[in-house]
This record gives sequence, structure tokens and C-alpha cells, in this order.
Amino acid sequence: MSVTVRLATPLRAAAGGSATLALDAADLGGLVREITERYPELAARVLRDGAFGPFVNVFVDGEDARYLDPRAELAGKRTVEILPAMSGGAVAELPDAIRGPHEVYGSFIDETISIAARQTRDTVLFAVGSPAREALELVGVDDLARTVIERDGSAALGYGITEGDPELRAIVAGLMRERGVACGDGNVIVTAGALQAIDLAARVFVRPGDVAVVESPHFTNAISALRNHGAGVLEVPADDDGLDVAEAERLIRRAGVRPRIFFVVPNFQNPTGATLSLARREALVELAARHRSIIIEDDPYHDLRYRRVDLPTIAALARGRAEVVYCGSFSKVFLPGLRVGWAVAPVDVIARMAAAKQTVDSSTSSLGQRIVVEFHRRGRASEHLVKLRTLYSEKQLRARAALAREFAATGVTWNDPDGGFYLWVRLPDGRSSRSLFATALEEGVAFVPGHAFGVASDHTAAFRFSYSSPTTERIDEGVRRLRRAFDRTA
Ligand SMILES: Cc1ncc(COP(=O)(O)O)c(C=O)c1O
Repeated sequence: MSVTVRLATPLRAAAGGSATLALDAADLGGLVREITERYPELAARVLRDGAFGPFVNVFVDGEDARYLDPRAELAGKRTVEILPAMSGGAVAELPDAIRGPHEVYGSFIDETISIAARQTRDTVLFAVGSPAREALELVGVDDLARTVIERDGSAALGYGITEGDPELRAIVAGLMRERGVACGDGNVIVTAGALQAIDLAARVFVRPGDVAVVESPHFTNAISALRNHGAGVLEVPADDDGLDVAEAERLIRRAGVRPRIFFVVPNFQNPTGATLSLARREALVELAARHRSIIIEDDPYHDLRYRRVDLPTIAALARGRAEVVYCGSFSKVFLPGLRVGWAVAPVDVIARMAAAKQTVDSSTSSLGQRIVVEFHRRGRASEHLVKLRTLYSEKQLRARAALAREFAATGVTWNDPDGGFYLWVRLPDGRSSRSLFATALEEGVAFVPGHAFGVASDHTAAFRFSYSSPTTERIDEGVRRLRRAFDRTA
């Protein structure tokens, strides 16, 4: 009997590049035998001791194979899906010959998005944290790019200075002063998105065995960067006011560690949408100062506040009391594909980040930087932000109204963030967002299950709902589909 096995992207190379395999197996044991015999390289990646290893998750028509008897029949089952383990993100294991002391961690957020993107049926994507197409179109990039290329010619596509285009550094320094941070051009390094800023900070500050205190749930890509540089993570619960700093203090004391890094997303956090309260920002600065730790403040959603007033950045509050690397981005408010973000830190830290960047990409795309500069030269940035806030706050309202309509009296709950792209949706009665995910895909809607946002902590009962990308009509349709999936998994 033939079963279709779907492989997540990182596993495909081990199966000759195939995304799906047709294998003959009557049960899971038979499937393991088939993989062993026909795909030894894949077997080395996904099997241990004659069974699927703990570093992969296997679903049989959406059901977690760990809870199935190995002799359970596969008759009538449509697909078996093999994914890298969700906990803490995808794990790429090294071949035996070069196996080193550590794994390489990726992101199950990105894995989920690629699963959703490869659906052949029409799918409403509440999974991606990207700007809406309408927002990208507002920018008028064709005219910006034409102007830059006509004016600067090939120089617009040459190598750039590692620290960034001088005019862009000055623009960022100005933005940072508006955010209350004493910042000169020399305090800025332009990076390939906020993600590279985080990675460079990790390269500069993290040594194997260091401890990073992180929110739980958290933005996995950043946490994986810290782990890839050797950090162990201490996960601290976050609630509607962000990281519970008092609990962080207790957990640090209990573990008897001195944290090297505190990593936080203070505004409209990914995945929960929560904002770190002013009192907790103050407490965090105090705590980091006491341990002489570095705070990485990752703030790509800063400008996307829809209600209430901005809170001071942690970098502004710290004022020399604690060392802060502030990471910003043009991805969420301009064009993410340009890959332009930044870090702000003391000049000596910027110099070390620049040295690290020279081994990675030497400089951020010159064309991308000049397009950002041209947009700012035309004085359109603040008017653009006003339009974005209107666009996304309408989408947020629509998403919350649709959830209220479709999920009344179901026990499903969600929060009410003041900005950003995300809602954190909780399921009732021990239900799993992982099971819901499989059924949701069949109904044509996708989100990111809670597992993606923890290392050891369990967020199975929740999921990230991103309202940024679908249109308002698609939001309504997507939530209707979500309700159908919910009813089917009851
Ligand atoms: C909290 C957070 N930090 C950083 C990033 C990455 O941003 P960039 O595209 O600038 O690398 C994201 C994108 O999803 C994010 O949500």
C-alpha cells in the first residue's frame, strides 16, 4: 500500500531533493524499514534505533505519530509529514564525519510558513509576519529604484561600507534620537535586517556556555541565533505586560547563573503582540545592570502602534546604566525584501559588530540602502507610517471582530495588542494547536502553532495569528475556515 510522505525543506536534500516520497508501507514500522532501505541518507537524518528520532516530528494525517502505535495501520491514511523538531526551531544535524559539539538551530516559524506556502489549495495565510501587499505597493518602489539607478549608476550596485551608507546611518541616528536615544552616526551599523543585527550582537557577546534570558513564548529565529553561538537559554514567562522581570530574577537566582544576555522584543512582541510595561522596562534595566548583562532590544514594530502612547525605549531608559544593543528594521514598515535594518550601540561595540559583519556579507546591499535613503529624502516616511497604522489597525479590528463572531462561546480566547502584526490565540480544554494546524491546512487557512515559540516550554495550547498580510475580506474568510477546522478537531 502506497503512502505519501511529505518532507520539510531541510530534509529534502537527504532524499535527493524530493519534497514528497511514495513509499509502500502497511504501518509505521514498515515505513521506517522502507526509509532505511531506500533512503539511507534520510534515514540517518530522521531515524534512531529503528524508529523516528526525537529531533523530528512526524504526523500521520495531522496526528502526532508519537501517540500512535507503531503497528497502527496506515491503510486509509493520506499523508505522513516529517518535520524537524518544533521545540526551539528546526535542527539541522551534521553528518557524522564532521559532527561537532553543537547543533545548528533554525526556526519552525519559517518551516511552518514554507509548509503553508506550498499548499496547492487556496490558503488564507495568518502564518506570515510580513507586511501586506497593499503596504508594499504604497511605497512606489519602481520610481525609487529607477531614480537611484539613473542617478548613481553602477555605484548603486557596488560594494558598500561595512557600517553602512553614511546618509542612511545619519537617517537612522535621527530616528533613534526621536526614540529618545543619544545617538550619533558612529553608533549605527546598517545590517541585513534586524535579524542580522541580532546575530552580530550574538557573535560579539556570546561565548559557549553563556546564559541568555529570553521571553517565553519568544521570537525563535533570534533565540536560535543566540543558541547557535553557544548560549543556553533561560525561558521566562511573558504575559500581557511582556517579560515577567520579577520571575526572571527568581529563576536566575534559582539557577545560580549570571546572565550574559537579556533578549526582549519590547513592542507588540512576536508572537504575542504584548508590550513590555514601563515598570518592567525599568526593572529590566536594573536587573541587567546588577548582573552587568547586555540587553538586546529587538524593536522592529516600534512605529506600528495603533492605540495609546509610545513607551520609552529600553536604550533610552538605560542611559549608561546597562549596555543595550538596540536592533531596528525597515522590514515591517517599508520593504522586507530589501533586507535593511540596523543596530545602535556604543562605538566600540559597533566596531566589533562591523568586524563580525566583514566575515558574513561585508556590507548590506547598496541598492537596498539607497532605496531607503531616497524614500526618506522625499520626506514621505512619516506620512507613509500614518497610512500603515490605519491599514493595520483596521485589519486588527477586523480580525478581532471575525474571531468574536466565529468563536463565540467556544472557550477560544485572544488578546488585544496595541499595535504590530499579531494576536495570540488560546485554545480551550487542552486542545493542541498542532492538531488544529493540520486540519486548518485542509480547510485552507494557516497560522503558526505555539510550539514554534519555545525551547523547553510548552505553548501547544496557543497559536500566533498574524493579521498583517491578508486583506480584510480574506481575514473574514480565513476565520470562517478556522472555525470549520476547530469544529472538525473537537
Ligand atoms: C521580533 C522580530 N525581530 C526581528 C525580525 C526580523 O526582521 P528583519 O526582516 O528586519 O530581519 C522579525 C520579523 O519577523 C521579528 O518579528
